[in-house]
Amino acid sequence: MKLTILGGGGFRVPLVYGALLSDHGEGRVTRVVLHDLDAGRLRAVTRVLAEQAAGVPDAPEVTATTDLDEALRGAAFVFSAIRVGGLRGRADDERVALAEGVLGQETVGAGGIAYGLRTVPVAVDIARRVARLAPNAWVINFTNPAGLVTEAMSRHLGDRVIGICDSPVGLGRRIARVLGADPAEAHVDYVGLNHLGWVRGLRVAGRDELPRLLADPALLGSFEEGRLFGADWLRSLGAVPNEYLHYYYFNRETVRAYREAGKTRGAFLLDQQTGFYERAGRPGAPALALWNRTRAEREATYMSENRRTAGAGEREADDLSGGYEKVALALMRAVARDERTTLILNVRNRSTLAVLDPEAVVEVPCTVDANGAHPVAADPLPGHAAGLVCAVKAVEREVLSAAGSGSRATAVKAFALHPLVDSVTVARRLVEAYTAVHPGLAYLR
Ligand code: G6P
Ligand code: MN
Repeated sequence: MKLTILGGGGFRVPLVYGALLSDHGEGRVTRVVLHDLDAGRLRAVTRVLAEQAAGVPDAPEVTATTDLDEALRGAAFVFSAIRVGGLRGRADDERVALAEGVLGQETVGAGGIAYGLRTVPVAVDIARRVARLAPNAWVINFTNPAGLVTEAMSRHLGDRVIGICDSPVGLGRRIARVLGADPAEAHVDYVGLNHLGWVRGLRVAGRDELPRLLADPALLGSFEEGRLFGADWLRSLGAVPNEYLHYYYFNRETVRAYREAGKTRGAFLLDQQTGFYERAGRPGAPALALWNRTRAEREATYMSENRRTAGAGEREADDLSGGYEKVALALMRAVARDERTTLILNVRNRSTLAVLDPEAVVEVPCTVDANGAHPVAADPLPGHAAGLVCAVKAVEREVLSAAGSGSRATAVKAFALHPLVDSVTVARRLVEAYTAVHPGLAYLR
């Protein structure tokens, strides 16, 4: 079975390959094709994978190409993990937004809109090519902003594109752990959009254990989201939000922390990753050791500004192990082998959340089998969540519309309607500044 990874020179590819190496079962991936625009990045990552595969007799064969159509032909699964504009683009997204006093995170607020505006046209082109060249392939979208990008692709691929994120799984796992439950046995009632969801319940053997957590300040203080949001706010909400909601509920503090930080996350990663690719690309370099070291540093510093403003301390060791690859592999396995399982995924809403239309991509628990991912019935969103979800989905729709029409006025509307952009004037200036800095936004007229 052939797996194609778009963004195959990306830093997280070894995580995926590592997970593939531990799969020896029937119907496993036997061929991995890495596609990237940058041959140098492909070379460095290929070196890491070769070291990982050393001594594994049935290691999937790896090839690399810069030809997209060749990469797609014959693929059973396509993992799409691209970064349009690279990390320099991410750093620019942050810088431009912060200069206007608003958040520039890659998936939330103005930064997420800018990133979405330049990613959607590329993702749509990929979706069209997949539909033509590999019509039976399943596309697993990792590309951020994942919900928006999955929705853009679903207009061409229907339910054959499924978006993934590791933050809901991580959250569910942390809650289960503090409650002393086995994460594999717990049903996590998580609903919302990507990076905009809430855990409203955690059922173990039919019993909701979340009230026990919300009632116990010591338990609430013992995991990442509990420390980020604080016991009082979690009790007020009656739910545990995804960590990305920290940017909404504590917007003023996070914007300030990012403005005061020596380097934004994107700028830090740009330096860190440039160093890694340079070194790992040199002949004879210990590519896997370099990758491991770089990865540990990346994981340890994830959302560090948020934790700092909240006084939340360091991340826990268990939270440093990633999780993307596990979700992707579990999903691929369930589809390829028809092994029914439940995963939190980004799929079309159908009738799951009554406040959204059927085509809106949402992030909810789904049953997965050979026919794909089917959202599990969910209780209606409480008012506070419905408000945010509808507002942000409306913004996503303006982004999709601007990407389709090339209308600058629609792009301004997308920024202006976002709950974290506080003025139409600011929205206009953001569009000016983003189009000036990003060649990928030249289509906006
Ligand atoms: C989490 C998020 C992903 C995101 C990653 C960013 O896993 O769910 O959507 O890509 O963190 O981490 P980074 O190291 O790029 O800041
Ligand atoms: Mn994510």
